[in-house]
Amino acid sequence: MLDIAIDLARQAGELLRLGHQNGAGLIRSKSSAVDLVTQFDLASEQLISDGLRQHFPDHAIYGEETGGTLPAAGPVWVVDPLDGTTNFAHGYPVFSVTLALLVDGRPELGVTYDPLRDDLFWAQRGQGAWRGQRRLQVSTTTGLDASLLATGFAYDRASNADNNLAEFSHFAPRTRGVRRGGSAALDMAWVAAGWLDGYWERGIHVWDLAAGVLLMREAGGVVTNYSGRPWQPADRNVVAANSVFHAVLLESLQRVRQGLPAPAPH
Ligand code: IPD
Repeated sequence: MLDIAIDLARQAGELLRLGHQNGAGLIRSKSSAVDLVTQFDLASEQLISDGLRQHFPDHAIYGEETGGTLPAAGPVWVVDPLDGTTNFAHGYPVFSVTLALLVDGRPELGVTYDPLRDDLFWAQRGQGAWRGQRRLQVSTTTGLDASLLATGFAYDRASNADNNLAEFSHFAPRTRGVRRGGSAALDMAWVAAGWLDGYWERGIHVWDLAAGVLLMREAGGVVTNYSGRPWQPADRNVVAANSVFHAVLLESLQRVRQGLPAPAPH
């Protein structure tokens, strides 16, 4: 199953790489004016879904562009055929293909492919997290002042006051930096790789995160929602980091969201 998932992610990634070179093609908006879909999101999802259906006719598929309801039980492939659509639509070279197999809601295998760097991140439950042949390990950073973080801003940010700006304003001056890369799947993979120390975001979906959750867990990291409960597919917010730093990040995040003063530096 892993080989097939990797093969499909690579094929879809090649499609996106060519699209990136030649232009994103037709673009339209979805849930809000800034939530875009390109013809490459659709073509990539078609390619992956066709391949999954051919190899695993009994498995369900839950793709970003096809939608529907995520089945709670049984094997389900969760697919984001182009994570980083806004970047892709503008030619900004940061996007990925990400897919994961959930069984009864638990990630069993996950693949995130960055076609422009030919970087393949993969994980299987109990088998570690890998970038190609190299095993991944989260960073050992424990304090905000030595950390590099990533986040994102949901597509409802113009209409929802809970738009992550307070959180961003809190962390930006207290860390080495906060990146807004534009592909949550890469943010998660890069925390798993130890290149980033933590990631948080609200308004996020299972298809953006499922593979990253497994990469994180297998790389020794912790992934929860904003309440601190271990991540579940229905969660729409997420905090990911190594286990020590996760507590620091979560506490800060919760205090900011409650309007409380920041805790003393750790
Ligand atoms: C988006 C990206 C982005 C995150 C958004 C996601 P999409 O996914 O992962 O980084 O901030 O919340 O929706 O729409 O490009 O597949």
